[in-house]
Amino acid sequence: MNKATRKTIIAGNWKMNKTPDEAKALISEMAPLVKDADCDVIACVPFVDLAVAQQAAEGSNIKIGAENCHWEVSGAYTGEISATMLKAMGIEYVIIGHSERRQYFGETDVTVNKRVRAALDAGLTVILCVGELKEEREQGITAELCRMQTKVALQGVTAEEMSRIVIAYEPVWAIGTGLTATADQADEVCGIIRDVIAELYSTEVAEATTIQYGGSMNDANAEELLSKVNVDGGLIGGASLVAEKFAKIVEFASK
Ligand code: 13P
Repeated sequence: MNKATRKTIIAGNWKMNKTPDEAKALISEMAPLVKDADCDVIACVPFVDLAVAQQAAEGSNIKIGAENCHWEVSGAYTGEISATMLKAMGIEYVIIGHSERRQYFGETDVTVNKRVRAALDAGLTVILCVGELKEEREQGITAELCRMQTKVALQGVTAEEMSRIVIAYEPVWAIGTGLTATADQADEVCGIIRDVIAELYSTEVAEATTIQYGGSMNDANAEELLSKVNVDGGLIGGASLVAEKFAKIVEFASK
């Protein structure tokens, strides 16, 4: 395993937080703090904040992403935003399959796959989230679950397109709970996901794919989590809303 073969990516997932004015202020506060980053830095923000966040990030090394997209290009889908629309406004990244979408909005492995396909077709890079529930970990089916979520989500995705897929392993029991997977648990499951990619594609593709950990990652635990060979970055919720904390995580990822 060689971490040097892939990009380290620290991405914030702001979830349903920050008005446009607040988004502008937060990006402006973060930009000088992360300017020396030796990793990719992304902020995934609510749809209404995208334009203002892009403006605030101009000239900095912060890239702006969205938190979801629909699978159709356009049509009668009230309340949805298409990948094509995101691309048209210059957005590069989109989170797909976050557990909150799966838990609260009926997202399934099949719809996750459709959204992944649409995002790739539109030219976006996908941050694909997978991860087990607490009960699933207790039942000992974490590996099977994460393998299946990854496989279904990647159906129809080519080896070439894998360069535009980032995977985030986010154990649901660790999201927003203050509970973090231990560094060894995170490393183990990120490794299992890497094995699936090797089976589906090749060792080269698996070695080149960035696999992040997400779930209560913060400035106090990031250093240990990021030291693991299979953990290539983080998808950060709560701590991404505080500029100094997010910058600290970026600093650890840059070492
Ligand atoms: P927290 O960092 O708030 O636990 O959220 C993690 C997450 O869901 C990132 O997508």
